[in-house]
Amino acid sequence: MQRNKQAYFWNKKAHSYPIYDAREDSSAKKLLEKLGQKGVEFGGKRVLDIGCGTGRNTIEIAKIAASVDALDISGEMLALLDKSAKEQGVSNIRTVQSCFMDADLQGRYDIVIATMTPALQALEDFGKALSLAGEKFVYVGWGRTRSAPLLEKAFLLHGGKLHLPFGAPGAKEHFGKLGYSVVVEYSEEVWEHETPLEKAIEEMCWHIEIGGVEPDRSIVEKLLKSEFGDMVKHSHNVETGLIICEI
Ligand SMILES: C[S@@+](CC[C@H](N)C(=O)[O-])C[C@H]1O[C@@H](n2cnc3c(N)ncnc32)[C@H](O)[C@@H]1O
Repeated sequence: MQRNKQAYFWNKKAHSYPIYDAREDSSAKKLLEKLGQKGVEFGGKRVLDIGCGTGRNTIEIAKIAASVDALDISGEMLALLDKSAKEQGVSNIRTVQSCFMDADLQGRYDIVIATMTPALQALEDFGKALSLAGEKFVYVGWGRTRSAPLLEKAFLLHGGKLHLPFGAPGAKEHFGKLGYSVVVEYSEEVWEHETPLEKAIEEMCWHIEIGGVEPDRSIVEKLLKSEFGDMVKHSHNVETGLIICEI
């Protein structure tokens, strides 16, 4: 996909994407705790967060790191990150608005992290990320399966098919080709959604369009209305894979 199209899609997504959450049981705190148990300590480190989005993880990392470069193709995502960082009194984040492969990043970082981002897919993307990491490269991506029955139904109604996005299994192969033998730790999460109908229609159309199919709003509206009414409330299981690559 072309760079400007990628930026267009993610700018559109930004305002429905979860922002930084300071609560004790936030997903970022849980991730950092898990990483800490596995020897990934961000304290005092120089960090690069690739495809950082609204800064869900970035801000939590910046609270203990020396500095974080937060890179994302979407200006809207970075604006939300900046807003949350200010609210949290965090001032050691430098935002970089760029496609990862176009970014001219100087020197090495102690830790490079990339979570749930399509910024890294090709072998060269992983080669570049690894070349920027001094100690560790942490990757979190989609797992081996994707259970999204509602979205599957929507694709079928459009005559298309929902594909499993690039994720941890492909990343593991790339690491291997680049000379790093890594293990993937898979885990399951349940994602809960409760969204007003209009917003849910918009979000589903977004998923269909980024999946390469032209969305028909009336089909999506009919599907969601018949299953849910005015509030779209559903949950689905998501598998993710964590890779910690020691340099
Ligand atoms: C699903 S969000 C993940 C955000 C964040 N890492 C998190 O875990 O909450 C994916 C992010 O990757 C960014 N992205 C997509 N393609 C990119 C690219 N080629 N270069 C840099 N960022 C990209 C999007 O703009 C979006 O913010």
